[in-house]
Amino acid sequence: MGTTLPTQRHVYVETFGCQMNVDDSERMLSFLRSTGFKAVEEITQAELILVNTCSVRDKAEQKVYSTLGRYKAFKKARPELVIGVCGCVAQQFGARLLERVAYLDMVVGTHNIHLLPKLVERVAENGERIDATEFRDSIGQDEYDATPTPGRGMVKATVSIMRGCDNFCSYCIVPYVRGREMSRSPEDVLSEVDSLAESGVREVTLLGQNVNSYCGVSRQTGSSTDFPALLKLVCRREGIERVRFVTSHPKDISTELMGLFGVEPKLASHVHLPVQSGSDEVLKRMKRGYTRAEYMGKIRALREACPDVAITTDIIVGFPGESEEDFERTIEVVREVGYDGAFSFKYSPRPGTEAAAYDDQLPSEVKSERLERLQKLERELRGSRDALLEGSVMEVLIEGPSKASDEELTGRTNCNRVVNFPSPAPEVAQAMTGTISEVLITRAYANSLRGRISERSMPCSIK
Ligand code: SAH
Ligand code: SF4
Ligand code: F3S
Repeated sequence: MGTTLPTQRHVYVETFGCQMNVDDSERMLSFLRSTGFKAVEEITQAELILVNTCSVRDKAEQKVYSTLGRYKAFKKARPELVIGVCGCVAQQFGARLLERVAYLDMVVGTHNIHLLPKLVERVAENGERIDATEFRDSIGQDEYDATPTPGRGMVKATVSIMRGCDNFCSYCIVPYVRGREMSRSPEDVLSEVDSLAESGVREVTLLGQNVNSYCGVSRQTGSSTDFPALLKLVCRREGIERVRFVTSHPKDISTELMGLFGVEPKLASHVHLPVQSGSDEVLKRMKRGYTRAEYMGKIRALREACPDVAITTDIIVGFPGESEEDFERTIEVVREVGYDGAFSFKYSPRPGTEAAAYDDQLPSEVKSERLERLQKLERELRGSRDALLEGSVMEVLIEGPSKASDEELTGRTNCNRVVNFPSPAPEVAQAMTGTISEVLITRAYANSLRGRISERSMPCSIK
């Protein structure tokens, strides 16, 4: 008597939002894989469609509705298709999304990813429409049991070390949709790092909304580990060549953490330190918990510890009540710091947040005009800084063939810039993938660098 193999089912996942959402999508796929699902890139092949959503700004939220709109025809043609919304918009609206979108089968909140296989069964077998958006008050091992299994040849990966946020910056929806801050145990984090390293990953990025307030309690001993201690442990795991982390809140980045730059050889010399505004008045109303002078003090300390540290940031323009003078303060900070990269956004009122109720909201034209000015300046500053890189030799973690051509390899520098360069012979290129090599930078473009692999970095046999 032969055994019947379970029918292979297919899932298509569309992801919006931050790195944390990308990491969650990986985890969703991993849980579903364990119950026989296979990820597909072609939506028409899928029996399950999941949209992992972001609600940090209005634009991100609107994208969810237009995406769901596109799926309506698929559901009509194939009523057995299961469609789910996950992530921050799911958490924000819960059952209201089911009311608004008649062909939606389930809404899965940010704490319930691990329940996906069971929820999908319930929809498929009983035709239920499900709202699974309750928060959990602890961070369970079961939520991370299915460690993402990266495909062969994957060189870098993210590891979520905590979830939620307790800061309640007045503009931000994240604490409402991700819940209170909770840290994973250090053992869980390290075992995920180990299994990634075993599968060939060489660079890990530790993720959290505010990694500096990580406080993981050991399941075995009950003792707690803070972020600098965790970072040191991760840097020393076998197989790991480079470690990054994101995001650091300026009020919490500690002297101890800053001191690790330039000391821990595997720690990438890059810090993402969102300033949001250069005006003390605006920072106060944003409830950021630092002044401009305190922020600049941290920048100085970082550069003292590691002179070539790359610093990137996030900026919001047009926060309620932001005057032209306030905005000028932000411009000054951008010039003074000389960021290696800045993500800037127009303030977007988020329902339920404190700033959305402020009565001095700015007109959209003012926000757009300020954003344009800021981004123009940022492009100019970055262009002249990037030009200085031409002629230098940079350490690049090679990730494999570039998207554009098989004859090119691609990788990232310590400071997270993309570098493309001509590939040596295929067998050599394969051997070099996952290694850190020296690349001579020959040209700096707006979004990437071009280079040539340095002789010294070629494997001995072909030098
Ligand atoms: N935890 C991170 C930020 C996460 S959200 C931190 O504190 O740095 C990512 C970025 O989105 C923020 O840094 C901020 O610049 C932007 N952002 C958040 N809420 C916003 C809003 N209501 N309007 C515009 N931008 C916003
Ligand atoms: Fe949002 Fe502030 Fe928390 Fe960052 S620290 S996620 S900006 S509330
Ligand atoms: Fe967006 Fe949620 Fe991340 S709101 S930025 S996906 S935490």
